[in-house]
Amino acid sequence: MRKPIIAGNWKMYKTIGEAVELVKALLVGLESGRDREVLVCPPFTALYAVRPLLVGTAISLGAQDLHHEAQGAYTGAIAPGMLTDVGCSYVIIGHSERRQYFGETDASVNKKIGAALGVGLKPIVCVGEVKAERDAGQAEAVVGGQLAGGLAGLSPEQMLKLVIAYEPVWAIGTGDTATPADAQMMHAFIRSRLHAQFGAEVAEAVRIQYGGSVKPDNVDELMAQPDIDGALVGGAALKADSFLRIVHFH
Ligand code: PGA
Repeated sequence: MRKPIIAGNWKMYKTIGEAVELVKALLVGLESGRDREVLVCPPFTALYAVRPLLVGTAISLGAQDLHHEAQGAYTGAIAPGMLTDVGCSYVIIGHSERRQYFGETDASVNKKIGAALGVGLKPIVCVGEVKAERDAGQAEAVVGGQLAGGLAGLSPEQMLKLVIAYEPVWAIGTGDTATPADAQMMHAFIRSRLHAQFGAEVAEAVRIQYGGSVKPDNVDELMAQPDIDGALVGGAALKADSFLRIVHFH
């Protein structure tokens, strides 16, 4: 059985003070004894302040991006070892906003996955088509291409450390969620591609999150789909009550 994983992607929101406040509220409201993994991905500047609050709790810490080199003259970039140093165990790689606005490609995603695994960070690798691609019937071809390029050269053992996030770009921040049936269809497709590349055992074990306008009122139906193993949540992760309701999906 795959353990559900709910992650909050805070994007470029929250000062240090706001981040600390949100994490404290999450810790107060989090129900114990539920068999699910919970993760927050604050902006880089808040990681150091948030980390001590999370040590020994049920919430893990993740970052939103990394550079693939261990160190060097890369102004503005953050090295993999810096993320483990500040207490991150996960890192989001290839988010559509990185692809759209910051030149992220399947090749750079592939390098970053290798760099993250090299220091023991677990990558959450994002894939997803834009609206025009879906309308043209190209959604599976696009996602299949992103998987092939991003996951190239990984061993089955390495693949087991990854989480995949299917995030249709047209659903991100728009309130326009994929229907549970459409999301399920793409998740099953992604799992079939994992099967083809890494074998049945890996395909069964790897968790595939859905992302794109996940909200308290649609999370239950999404999570009820057999191949949806979690959620990557943007807007609804910025407030404690809505994120907690998503974490506590039925
Ligand atoms: P959203 O963002 O929940 O605000 O649509 C999801 C994401 O970009 O990870």
